[in-house]
Amino acid sequence: MEYFAVQGGVPLEGCVAVHGAKNSALPILAATLLAPGEHVLHNCPDLTDIAAALAILSCLGCQVRREGSTVVVNTIHRRGCAVPDRLMGQMRASVLFLGSLLASSGEAIACWPGGCALGERPIDLHLRALRLLGAEVLDRGGRLSCRCPRLRGNRIVLPFPSVGATENAMLAACGAQGVTEICNAAQELEIVDLQNFLRACGANISGGGTQRIVVYGGVPLHPGEHSVMPDRIVTATYLCAVAAAGGEGELLAAQGGAVAPVLQALTAAGCQIWETQRGLAVRRQGALRGIGPIVTAPYPGFPTDAQPLLAAVLAKAQGESAITETIFDRRFRYTQQLCRMGARIQVEGDTARICGAPLQGASVKATDLRGGAALTIAALGAQGCSQVYGLEHIDRGYERLETALGCLGGRIRRTTR
Ligand code: UD1
Repeated sequence: MEYFAVQGGVPLEGCVAVHGAKNSALPILAATLLAPGEHVLHNCPDLTDIAAALAILSCLGCQVRREGSTVVVNTIHRRGCAVPDRLMGQMRASVLFLGSLLASSGEAIACWPGGCALGERPIDLHLRALRLLGAEVLDRGGRLSCRCPRLRGNRIVLPFPSVGATENAMLAACGAQGVTEICNAAQELEIVDLQNFLRACGANISGGGTQRIVVYGGVPLHPGEHSVMPDRIVTATYLCAVAAAGGEGELLAAQGGAVAPVLQALTAAGCQIWETQRGLAVRRQGALRGIGPIVTAPYPGFPTDAQPLLAAVLAKAQGESAITETIFDRRFRYTQQLCRMGARIQVEGDTARICGAPLQGASVKATDLRGGAALTIAALGAQGCSQVYGLEHIDRGYERLETALGCLGGRIRRTTR
């Protein structure tokens, strides 16, 4: 069994590059089905979730190959419309293949998607959007069968700005005749990146990044070439690592505007963060201090994915902090593991109350992707050695996290027991 062996309590110093965004690359890979030919995706991170998306494309007859950080997907010989259960179950984003399969072949068959266990993760908004575009969607005991030989544009009003449902609606709308309007759309930067890729394929789509996205569908698309945006949650992870351990680091390709609420919180907690010519730099010299309530919210609010990362920093700050989670209802499971390191965190309903305390190394286990990153950050800031298990969660969203944190000066090794 693999784990991270972390020697904590050592200030960081170094420089690391932020890799491409998982949550941007996944919908874009699903989108390649919309146009026959050879798509080129630069800055595509090498993660197990991405490998799962590429495996889905391979099962659908596409040829995929990786050349460094560039992935080439040739969809010319694609066939079939069924995604194997094993691959659907590996990640949440597999649900996006419903929209792109429907748009490109009029049919999609799959089971419910997997993904991190963060509480209830229904897909009703996805299915409702597909139905509004004319698809017949049947759910027989978790087996989804979607059919529509001819999708038609429509007005889709999302009751909640779901990132995935917005992306699924965008993908399906590209294959629908006429105009689709997506109202109360998610405004995440990954939506803008997907729009940019779709435009590179010739799609007539606008409004990505605002609450109203308009797609003039039914236009034949051609293969696209695109560079995936830097991962903002990976950026937040490296910033929090330096914040927790102290010291100074530079993050190449990091974009401050993409993580503005995280920068605000870390600055309030006692970090200095500034833009450099190559990205962002962060320094933490004095003691960390607790900060006022942080409330997660859809973009541009405080990202739910960065909530565990910040908690790992605040766990050792002087004074009290509070974090309220509004997006997922079971996203504090990692706090029990943090408490094994000496953290004093009490979860009451949707709020975690953190009373800063010195952390000591411990043996802990990741319960989900960002929770695992949070434990690794806490281990860097704790006195003594830690073992972080559950790397299969961490590898879903970080390209060799131990190497990246090593570039920042962290003493961390991947070890097999
Ligand atoms: C995406 C991100 C994930 C991030 C999340 C919120 C990807 C692959 N994942 O997930 O990292 O944490 O956005 O920023 O991009 N909901 C419903 N019905 C639905 C869909 C969602 O009720 O059909 C609810 C969810 O239960 C949750 C909320 O909406 O409470 C947000 O979910 P959503 O924005 O859809 O997140 P994901 O797309 O799953």
